[in-house]
Amino acid sequence: EIHQREYLSDGEMKKWDGNVHEVYSPICVKTAEGLKRKLIGTYPVCTEKEAFEALDAAVTAYDNGRGQWPTMSVANRIKCVEKFIAKMMDQKDIVVKLIMWEIGKSYADSVKEFDRTVEYIYATIDALKDIDRDSSRFTIEQGIVAQIRRSPLGVVLCMGPFNYPLNETFTTLIPAIIMGNTLLFKPPKHGTLLHYPLLEAFRECFPKGVVNTVYGRGNTIIPGLMKSGKINVLTLIGSSKVANELKKLHPKVNRLRAILGLDAKNAAIITQKADLKLAVQETVLGSLSFNGQRCTALKIVFVHRSVADEFIAQLTAEVAKLKFGMPWEKGVSLTPLPEPNKPAYLKECIEDAEAHGAKVVNEHGGTTVESFVYPAILYPVNNRMKLYREEQFGPLIPVVPFDDLEEPIGYLIESTHGQQVSIFSNNQEEVASLIDPLVNQVSRVNINCQCQRGPDVFPFTGRKDSAEGTLSVVDALRSFSIRSLVAAKLTESNKH
Ligand code: G3H
Repeated sequence: EIHQREYLSDGEMKKWDGNVHEVYSPICVKTAEGLKRKLIGTYPVCTEKEAFEALDAAVTAYDNGRGQWPTMSVANRIKCVEKFIAKMMDQKDIVVKLIMWEIGKSYADSVKEFDRTVEYIYATIDALKDIDRDSSRFTIEQGIVAQIRRSPLGVVLCMGPFNYPLNETFTTLIPAIIMGNTLLFKPPKHGTLLHYPLLEAFRECFPKGVVNTVYGRGNTIIPGLMKSGKINVLTLIGSSKVANELKKLHPKVNRLRAILGLDAKNAAIITQKADLKLAVQETVLGSLSFNGQRCTALKIVFVHRSVADEFIAQLTAEVAKLKFGMPWEKGVSLTPLPEPNKPAYLKECIEDAEAHGAKVVNEHGGTTVESFVYPAILYPVNNRMKLYREEQFGPLIPVVPFDDLEEPIGYLIESTHGQQVSIFSNNQEEVASLIDPLVNQVSRVNINCQCQRGPDVFPFTGRKDSAEGTLSVVDALRSFSIRSLVAAKLTESNKH
């Protein structure tokens, strides 16, 4: 158990003796009353007072762009981040263990999350070196010599999601600070403890006030921070509803930059000409990796009616092979769900689909034991069901039969989401005919493969309500900065 009694603010690990939040793992233990989620630790429930102190520390460290950090050379900022990576590596084992216990991610995927985050930080450093080299060049146009720089934006409020509590927090936090901004971050409700072993590293590697943490209940501390008008950038990977509500609280919303990764309902389109075996393998990965709790997961599958029965038969057989178990068990891919209310919500989706004519077609589909939910394949799904539009963010695979490709295309056009789509077809002309209409609806079209964020050097964004701004390495560095110019006329007085 980890009983965290400190938080990082203004360069100090501040002691906390107030209220704490109890953290229960999705991993259950037997008790006299049956299976119960295991208590694995506690963390501070700070009040608005501490949150404002942390915000003021970030504001002071930025000092209207005149602080030590925003004026530090890029090379020196990179050195601080490199020092941080070394200290982060020392904490790998404990962080990985906490990812497993706090959110129920398998050992293999927890290690992957950690390693991928470190690789992302190295890639960010390389990309920044390129940007910095460009900034030292001069451009001459129409008698004006100019140096184009990338300058920071100010104070960033950073919030990550529970499904990638380390990776998705750091893929915004690191680009934000390395560009010279100062920051306060609130770890996700499920996935807070795992940040604790890294706080000391932040304190040691960065000047005071550059990185500050806020703990506690988001709905009591975050609105006040937004209303203060002192936040220049809001970055959040989470729900569209929360992001919209927070943005509205800012007194000068036109001066707020929002970099957001939001809800998604990615679709697979499996045509008559698809390689069904491949489509099934990728659908299983896309829909059920980390129990479907990925913003990039496939959340609805359209299959041509002529191949639907065969697809369902193969899909059912593949799902039956997946191993259910605890995160540390070898070869496990289905694990307990961290959100306590998720099993009830998934049950509601299944019942609603059944009431409108679909069936759970796989044995044990939807069976729930406390935090475990066995994946359910629902067929045939139609537009009267919740699962047709709502982002289930869990192990349910809604399958919709179609007769004409205009049906899934129409679905994507009407959808309020616009992150990704996967097309499965072995016919080049058919694929080519789908790319143009689809790439104008979503931000990534995948051909004969599942939807995913990676490789992480690729831009990561979404259309419509699925994102604002673009993340991933070079794009993230651009998102957390502004292009600015130092320009001079080529005159006698400017010749030096
Ligand atoms: O939840 C959204 C993540 O960025 C997804 O990343 O596609 O690599 O699982 P992933």
